[in-house]
Amino acid sequence: MKAAIKDVRAREILSTSAQPTLETVVKLEDGTVGVASVPYGTSAGKYEAVTLVDGDPKRYKGKGMLKAVNKVSKVIGPGVIGMDALDQQALDEHLVSLDPSPQREEIGGNCILSVSLASARAAAISKGLPLYRHIRESFDIKHSEYVLPRPMVVVIEGGRHADNSTDLQEYLVGIIKDRGGRENVRAAMEVYMYLKGVLKAQGYNTNVGTEGAYAPTAIKSNEEPLIHIEQAMKDAGYAPGEDLGIAMDPAASEFCEEDGTYNLARDGKKLSSDEMISYYADLVERYSIYSIEDGLGEDDWKAWPVMNEKMGQRIVVMGDDLTVTNVERLQKAIDLKAINAILIKPNQVGTLSETVAAIQLAQANGLKITVSHRGGGETTDTLIIDLAVAANAQSVKVGPSRGERVVKYNRLMERADELGL
Ligand code: PGA
Ligand code: ZN
Repeated sequence: MKAAIKDVRAREILSTSAQPTLETVVKLEDGTVGVASVPYGTSAGKYEAVTLVDGDPKRYKGKGMLKAVNKVSKVIGPGVIGMDALDQQALDEHLVSLDPSPQREEIGGNCILSVSLASARAAAISKGLPLYRHIRESFDIKHSEYVLPRPMVVVIEGGRHADNSTDLQEYLVGIIKDRGGRENVRAAMEVYMYLKGVLKAQGYNTNVGTEGAYAPTAIKSNEEPLIHIEQAMKDAGYAPGEDLGIAMDPAASEFCEEDGTYNLARDGKKLSSDEMISYYADLVERYSIYSIEDGLGEDDWKAWPVMNEKMGQRIVVMGDDLTVTNVERLQKAIDLKAINAILIKPNQVGTLSETVAAIQLAQANGLKITVSHRGGGETTDTLIIDLAVAANAQSVKVGPSRGERVVKYNRLMERADELGL
């Protein structure tokens, strides 16, 4: 069976920050249509695939997508007409061959990703399969059963995701005791709901940041959110450390200075890598923290193995900007024993096949997987949920409010119902 690609068109759409992004429509000979849109990050890692933007200051402050639209519709599209959407790997190999450089400066990671994902979606529809089953089949992912990923919900955010909040970028609620797909979502969301009252009682504002999490401007330290989140867990009827735990994504590259020191402005502290690790170790002792992502900077290769050695038995030590869903950086991290888990974002790399390759390499080496939204321009596309379900990822990381985020949890619960998980 073949499902030949007949037509590929892109358009400029708005992402959640008003800044445009790219949506691509792939049509097959059999009449099937697949649509996919791609997000971009606010605190994007230095080694990620590049998002191609217009650079014309007269439109959308230089962030227009007309060049990308043109590239997809006029350059990439015509080159894939007639290719088989059912053969995702061959399609992606072709897309990669257009610009094999790791960061895709020439072709634009957003351009090839939107074609790769729209084609995958068209193929799934053409086969009459839910997207996660199609992804599992296409890549011969060898898990015998489905294990539903658990939600990791961002409930307080700072860093580049909010004005004048914490230096650390994200504080998340995650699931320790599994209650099943829907109940896991409920538990984490209830904490978000109760947290509003806890913050208000402290006199803080409850405005939200880019991911829909609270961003209290007057918060006094980077540690303080941990206290309030555990209080909200208790208020919601869950035991911190038993039912639920806290995950953190400090996004440390954002406050790591040129000389390698970590500047925690809110605490009036500048820490060395070793001091930063001790800071986390102390927090892990005192709170129900079970996961730390990007605790160190993307170039701090010497310190990552130290952190993983010290804490990796006890908690999840996860790379994001460090590894950028890139098999070469991931292999380096594996060789150095720098991490025991990886955050996966398809737009960090550029094609579905490369994303799955990173997942498979990680899983073959015993690493845990979290599939993630982006903090900046998100869209209502829910493909990351299907990817996470296909891969038996441990978690999905998504914000708790705003349509582009909740649509993903709604998709997760739909998959939970379908799979009876
Ligand atoms: P970003 O951040 O999508 O804004 O880059 C999210 C993250 O660091 O996980
Ligand atoms: Zn991150």
